Amino acid sequence: MKVNGEHFKTIWADPRLKSVHIIDQTLLPHRFESLQIHSVEAMELAIKTMQVRGAPLIGAAAAYGVALAMLHDDSDAGLAVACSDLLATRPTGVNLQWALQRMHNHLIAIEPRRRNINAWKEAAKICDEDVKLNRAIAQHGLKLIQRLAGKHDRPINILTHCNAGWLATVDWGTALAPIYAAHDAGIAVHVWVDETRPRNQGASLTAWELGMHGVPHTVISDSAGGHLMQHGQVDMVIVGADRVARTGDLCNKIGTYLKALAAFDNRIPFYAAVPSPSIDWTIEDGLSEIAIEQRSADEVARISGKLADGSIATVQLLPAGSPAANPAFDVTPARLVTGIITNQGVCAPDQLTSLFTEKT
Ligand code: MRU
Repeated sequence: MKVNGEHFKTIWADPRLKSVHIIDQTLLPHRFESLQIHSVEAMELAIKTMQVRGAPLIGAAAAYGVALAMLHDDSDAGLAVACSDLLATRPTGVNLQWALQRMHNHLIAIEPRRRNINAWKEAAKICDEDVKLNRAIAQHGLKLIQRLAGKHDRPINILTHCNAGWLATVDWGTALAPIYAAHDAGIAVHVWVDETRPRNQGASLTAWELGMHGVPHTVISDSAGGHLMQHGQVDMVIVGADRVARTGDLCNKIGTYLKALAAFDNRIPFYAAVPSPSIDWTIEDGLSEIAIEQRSADEVARISGKLADGSIATVQLLPAGSPAANPAFDVTPARLVTGIITNQGVCAPDQLTSLFTEKT
């Protein structure tokens, strides 16, 4: 997608210089800067600290992390350690596990001295495929928005949670991809952007990227969505996913479940945009089988932003001594999900398996 007219992806490699570039998402929306990563350890840190984040991008970043590791130790043991250290960075999104498994399976079959070059190639393939999957999601989701647009003579109001835009993937995004496609096709859309406490991925990232693309949007506090739905101001909800069970149970950023409940109560269609690597075919019950990342209480206790003089500062919100808890994701049961927009098409949550077995 474009930033001030220039095309960017969220991650790009420079194997010649033995490095990977990422957009440092912890600096947005106030500063747009890329960061050069030279080692697997630096990539692990970038994932943990959320300089790169969003399930598909985490998978792509980890794949390049393996390529960086292979520069220094291309043995079987080196490969195993790199994969297990990268896997430990964030537990909830399945794309990380998927990408590492793919890198491991690919490289273990190759003689060690050829692993380095092949690791860069395989990681690049994962990135290219991500863009293709998201383009397909854009086209399938566009049809849903077109259908709604055919019924109303006004902009279509879409609510989204967290950031499932191009910043969360290699390019295009998942939940935002159909919105960009609709906007580009001349359909009037307006996006309600949940701020998404505690890290504010909606307010800082989604609002920024929608603004860069010229998509009309309004940032709302996390508690406002239900009220807007009760007053007919939301036509549909589209969110992303970090891991989806084969039954359609949907794990996404904390707060997604509450939006799904409100949408269900107000008979508003609730969709998740899900590329195939975000589906965990091994699990059936999302609630009991998905490990929810518990992040630092500091993310709840403090908030950062720009001061009047332009400098960035972090301030304390809570009274000294008040404990805080920070579960980073929640699970929305399939019964609350209207449909899943995948790269293979749109289906009811309980039709995921047949959609993918029919089409593959
Ligand atoms: O903690 P984050 O910012 O990595 O969480 C991101 C989300 O929950 C996204 O909605 C999800 O990864 C889907 S992104 C295409």
